[in-house]
Amino acid sequence: MKSRMRGLLIAMCFAVSGSSLQAQPVDGGAVFSQNCASCHGAQGLERAPRLEMLRLLEPKFVLDTLATGAMRIQGLRLNPSESRAVAEYVTGKTRL
Ligand code: HEC
Repeated sequence: MKSRMRGLLIAMCFAVSGSSLQAQPVDGGAVFSQNCASCHGAQGLERAPRLEMLRLLEPKFVLDTLATGAMRIQGLRLNPSESRAVAEYVTGKTRL
């Protein structure tokens, strides 16, 4: 009984430290709906390219847009994993 408790405790420690060390998987779709859809979504700004247009781009281009291009203000709110996730999401491609 005692050793089972200890095993459980050790497992819990691993679970906690594991999650804080590893980068959390980021949902690009959620990043998009929270940070981009207000302009790029179906009811968005007329001037902003729709998701179907963004799909034609390369993820690298979207990342550059968020870092130094037209969307650098919007990009400021995102951490690197969020930028990457949303770039992959809007383009539907994972190659960066
Ligand atoms: C406040 C409205 C707004 C928000 C929020 C917004 N965008 Fe944009 N985005 C625009 C507009 C307007 C354009 C067209 C800019 C232009 O043509 O100069 C644009 C253009 C772009 C382009 C094309 C850039 C180019 O040089 O052709 C990309 C890629 C893009 N946005 C990605 C994103 C992503 C990803 C997000 C969310 C992180 C986002 N945008 C959030 C308004 C917005």
